[in-house]
Amino acid sequence: MTTSTFSQIGVIGLGTMGRNLALNLADQGVPLVVWERDRELAERARSDLGDRVTWASGPWDLAARLAPPRAVLLMVTAGAAVDSVLGELKPFLGARDVVVDGGNTEAGDTARRQQELEKSGIRLIGLGVSGGEEGARNGPALMAGGAVDAWERVAPQLTAIAARTTDGSACCQRLGAGASGHFVKTVHNGIEYAVMQVLAEAYDLMRNGLGLEVPAIADVFRNWNQGPSAGYLVEIAGDVVATQDPAGGPLLDRVVDRAGQKGTGRWASLAALDFGVPAPTIAEAVFARAVYARRSDRHALAASPPTATTISVDDLHGAVRATTLIAFLQGLDLIAAADRSAGWGVRLPDVARVWRAGCILRAALLDRLAAAYDALPPDASGLSAPDLRDDLAQTLPGLRRAIAGSVTAGFAVPAMTSALGWYDGMTRHRVPADFLQGLRDRFGAHGFERDDQPGTHHADWSGR
Ligand code: 6PG
Repeated sequence: MTTSTFSQIGVIGLGTMGRNLALNLADQGVPLVVWERDRELAERARSDLGDRVTWASGPWDLAARLAPPRAVLLMVTAGAAVDSVLGELKPFLGARDVVVDGGNTEAGDTARRQQELEKSGIRLIGLGVSGGEEGARNGPALMAGGAVDAWERVAPQLTAIAARTTDGSACCQRLGAGASGHFVKTVHNGIEYAVMQVLAEAYDLMRNGLGLEVPAIADVFRNWNQGPSAGYLVEIAGDVVATQDPAGGPLLDRVVDRAGQKGTGRWASLAALDFGVPAPTIAEAVFARAVYARRSDRHALAASPPTATTISVDDLHGAVRATTLIAFLQGLDLIAAADRSAGWGVRLPDVARVWRAGCILRAALLDRLAAAYDALPPDASGLSAPDLRDDLAQTLPGLRRAIAGSVTAGFAVPAMTSALGWYDGMTRHRVPADFLQGLRDRFGAHGFERDDQPGTHHADWSGR
């Protein structure tokens, strides 16, 4: 085989995401070799990709069609399938070859695999890919983590297929070492859960609290999408609400009220608990899905429905804006904490910038977040950024009024209430942790610190 007959990159796994990324790579003129084990998926991909790519008959054949240092993009279901494909591929790879895992892989798995492969000199890049099917086809946001030289091997091909912002920058970056790319993608998804949840709460309040008809709600979302809350999720909220069932009426009214989840929101919440980072809006969004999933319990327990509310649409807008910003601040805080622990070298402005186009979280807010974190000293809370504080000063009164109206009428708004609880906690000088310490020391002699003396103290808390 001459050098010119080698492909530049191999793609393993041609399900929806893999097939669309392969099409995107082919469109960019990247010579690629592909392999899919599943016959049906392979046939489906063959009808799209045809002879624009080289078809390998297995991992060994795919590896043989790549010149060292080889680059292989794995687009297989996260979990055991990744280990299994890596096991098959490894005998045909050598030192300096690069494997890119483009699945929604848990960062701990990526770190483990990086260590394991490193023993053979094979480098693994954990690549967060966001944007769904459409993004994969036309330009996803790509969040990479791993060694610099490994990234340099695949950066040209991946940058070519990534989404671009209006200023022309590619949303494709090595964010840091190790599993940082997959961790950032996990947190991206956690924030995605939170933003979807607050939009769902706003929809519920408009539909069932304010009694607005579906076209009016779609107009509200479309209107919000013109201003500071513009973003992909707000945009598609308008479309989803407006979609009609072919049999008549809003399609949403025919959808079973039980939401699925594949685990990334849960991982983000678990990481927040592990690192002790307050990210309640992300966690509440996961718990909300758990409540929604308990459909038969809800039916058995159904009490009287919430009553009408008089929240203004403007206050609801403030509530959505404040909650969305707070969910981002929580997620970015979580990334900072994980980065401090792992030493990946992730910069938060880079994270905000890579989310500006292509991904599910793309929104006008990202430019402002990037600029705000650029101006902050490392490790400072996003809440200390003047621009973001101004934003919250404008929107928090609406959030407070929206929550008051919701809870009085009997609507559960966990994203909104957790966001406000986070803000009020984070900005309070003295909190009742003194009381918690008193109780802990009373029942368990756990000790407490005093603000007027050094050291750990213990007291007789018998009330005398
Ligand atoms: C993206 C999405 C994508 C997906 C997840 C979350 O960034 O393109 O986050 O990764 O939608 O699978 O889905 P669940 O809601 O099913 O957990």
